[in-house]
Amino acid sequence: MGIHIQKNFSLKSFNTFGIDVKARYLVQVTGVQDLYELLMDEAFKTIPKLMLGSGSNILFTRNFPGLVLQMAIEGIEKVKEDDRYVWIKAGAGVNWHTLVVYCIDHGYAGIENLSLIPGTVGAAPMQNIGAYGVEIKEVFEALEALEISTGALKVFDQAACTFGYRDSIFKNTLKGKYIVLSVTLRLQKQPLFRTEYGAIKATLEAMHVKELSIKAISDAIIRIRQCKLPDPKQMGNAGSFFKNPEINTTNFERLQAVYPTIPGYKHGQAKVKIPAAWLIEQCGWKGQRRDKVGVHDRQALILVNYKKAKGTEIKQLALDIQASVAHKFDIELVPEVHII
Ligand code: EPU
Repeated sequence: MGIHIQKNFSLKSFNTFGIDVKARYLVQVTGVQDLYELLMDEAFKTIPKLMLGSGSNILFTRNFPGLVLQMAIEGIEKVKEDDRYVWIKAGAGVNWHTLVVYCIDHGYAGIENLSLIPGTVGAAPMQNIGAYGVEIKEVFEALEALEISTGALKVFDQAACTFGYRDSIFKNTLKGKYIVLSVTLRLQKQPLFRTEYGAIKATLEAMHVKELSIKAISDAIIRIRQCKLPDPKQMGNAGSFFKNPEINTTNFERLQAVYPTIPGYKHGQAKVKIPAAWLIEQCGWKGQRRDKVGVHDRQALILVNYKKAKGTEIKQLALDIQASVAHKFDIELVPEVHII
């Protein structure tokens, strides 16, 4: 087979934290047939496997002793349309923002609020990516995946993915069992503008936008993200390190009595979502630097690798942050980033 297997391969440029660990084997997957052959190859059947998109939500704390499959299946195509919707299928290796730009250029609405999220199309449903009031699950139609143990092809519809907040079945019961090959989204021909979240409206005004469009919203979101979120090319990071915790309303009211300024967003009937960034900032971590690692000075939910840190140093910082938030607020922070 024409598969190029690289040995003892440095993953430094394959993770946005820029951690220099090695994979025993690395293969860039550009087609389904190659992937199938590789999975069925006796030499690789029993060793651990790790699927990697662009490595923007992962923290390596050690060398990977098995086979890293770097997803590079490309392609964007229209598969169906009716009066209201258009169905777009994209290869799992397509850069997420490239797909967003494609949709905006063609006038297909629904993912403009998800502009500039790092990562690949295949990784997007894994953690149900979301930003600025929108999650991928709202436009998700289906995905195709290969079962690692059998090589069988399976289609998962929206219900089968059991999406939650930064969560899906692929982070739970099916963790490590499937490799996503493509994702199909159902986008609207008539846009439904979503500008309620945070600074979108103010940014659109500051940009003197007269007529709302999906392009204008995308531009506003890009501007917001660029001023808050550090560029991994300049400073290693993986976006939000922790999920925003959800607590029950009674606990929230108890905290509010002690900390009147605590922000909270109602989530369902009895739950309140609290920004983890606020909790971390209150514990004094924002902008703190500890040798090669630190907490970003403009967004306390982002941990950064200033230079050549080890994954274990970032992990230790995360553990210390978790401990102080637990101590001060009695709230458990759960990492959003996949720690290996
Ligand atoms: N805040 C602070 N201190 C800070 C930053 C924020 O107190 O340093 C508080 C403020 O009250 C602010 C609130 O936190 O209003 C929310 O902050 P922000 O809008 O920056 O969003 P976030 O909750 O920190 C989430 C997602 C981001 C997504 C943004 C925008 C999670 C874990 N993170 O962050 O997603 O871009 O909302 O929708 O849900 C990611 O998942 O990697 C990611 C970047």
